[in-house]
Amino acid sequence: MAGCEGYEAIAHVYDKLNADIDYSAWADFVERCFDRFLPRRPELVLDLACGTGSMTLELAKRGYDMIGVDGSADMLSEAFSRAIHAPSVLWLNQDMRAFELYGTVGAITCCLDSLNYLLSSEDLSKCFACVHNYLDPGGLFLFDMNTPYKFRNVYGSNAYILEDELVYGEEDADEERVPVFCGWQNTYHPETRICDFDLSLFEEMPDGSYRRSDEHQQERCYELEEIRTALRSANLELIGVWSDFDFSTPDDTTERWYFAARAVKS
Ligand SMILES: C[S@@+](CC[C@H](N)C(=O)[O-])C[C@H]1O[C@@H](n2cnc3c(N)ncnc32)[C@H](O)[C@@H]1O
Repeated sequence: MAGCEGYEAIAHVYDKLNADIDYSAWADFVERCFDRFLPRRPELVLDLACGTGSMTLELAKRGYDMIGVDGSADMLSEAFSRAIHAPSVLWLNQDMRAFELYGTVGAITCCLDSLNYLLSSEDLSKCFACVHNYLDPGGLFLFDMNTPYKFRNVYGSNAYILEDELVYGEEDADEERVPVFCGWQNTYHPETRICDFDLSLFEEMPDGSYRRSDEHQQERCYELEEIRTALRSANLELIGVWSDFDFSTPDDTTERWYFAARAVKS
């Protein structure tokens, strides 16, 4: 894997696990930001840490030329197989701390707490430097991060169980439904501000037995001031921080911050 670990075990169920995320509403928000903060809508957009391509494909559907960058070949493979109706998307398996494009883009999105996967301020700064490097002058960077409130009070040391079905094949007689259980345990370490996520996936096999796959992931909690400082150091001017797609102001119980920043180039 290019530069990040994880997702081997769960890439094929990732979209099921995140079925509640409304990427259409999120893309509406992205387009409202384009309208508010750019002189014209961008032609070429990079979706950084694109995962299985939910935002990439939503924006491609709306007419943007898209590049999707992700460090996990397994996630990109899922994205690629979803992308038959968007053959022009360029998928790149690269680390977001050191990615390289052929030229600059008008906007960069980075969705669903992907930046929390960077486990040190140095890594966050490296990523922001690359973002600045590949944005047009005045280009827009839209990203979100999980808040300290969420790490301490929502993730905490909670455990979750998801029971669902995986659907393989076409929606007809060939369709196969496979029962799947996912157990998910969080452990947040306030001293390092790292949260460990331990997931175990159980998928029913044709003989009725269950195959278990385990996955360990980590996210880092960042204070707002650290994010502001890292943006400033990378010449990314912070335009706004909101708690939702309606541009509402964050408060002490906000779980996700949505940021907009602009590339300042002399
Ligand atoms: C929570 S997922 C979000 C994926 C996608 N943005 C979405 O909205 O579904 C986080 C993604 O970040 C990617 N990632 C984590 N660390 C990375 C790194 N250093 N470089 C590139 N991608 C990375 C993972 O492979 C994963 O696809």
